[in-house]
Amino acid sequence: MTVKVLFVCLGNICRSPTAEGIFAHRLQEAGLQQQVEIDSAGTSDWHIGKAPDARSIAAANARGYAIDHLRGRQAIAEDFARFDYILAMDTDNLALLQRLQPPGWKGRLGLFLEFAGDQAPVSVPDPYYGGEEGFQLVLDLLEEASDGLLADIRKHHLS
Ligand code: 4NP
Repeated sequence: MTVKVLFVCLGNICRSPTAEGIFAHRLQEAGLQQQVEIDSAGTSDWHIGKAPDARSIAAANARGYAIDHLRGRQAIAEDFARFDYILAMDTDNLALLQRLQPPGWKGRLGLFLEFAGDQAPVSVPDPYYGGEEGFQLVLDLLEEASDGLLADIRKHHLS
């Protein structure tokens, strides 16, 4: 059985592909690529088929995460049939996903930063209209949440 995780933001070119790249790296380090399948999507249709934002690619690359091969897609209701965890980067996108959630779905829909420490904010701030420091903050928050998510998956699905 594989555990399936979908990371979701607004555009699928900054935060969620960065989350996917970091988590792919964590899974590889842990030797869990076969047990955990991951993807990312946006709630908007603005960047379908597009590579991540060049600033996200550069910031991720500087920390050893490759995300340039990822392409934008939109989250769809069918994602609920496919994924066990659907993790939103912020409360706005969580609200949009809640509207797509079918009744009776048994997975976990929530905020990705629920897996970060108590000091972390609720949402990953959208870095799109800001400066370089925003992209660094995205990486800091997503790295922390990735460690918590991996621990949660190990506890609930792989132990
Ligand atoms: P993301 O960031 O949701 O982290 O991918 C954004 C990307 C693009 C836009 C907004 C946020 N946009 O307005 O096009």
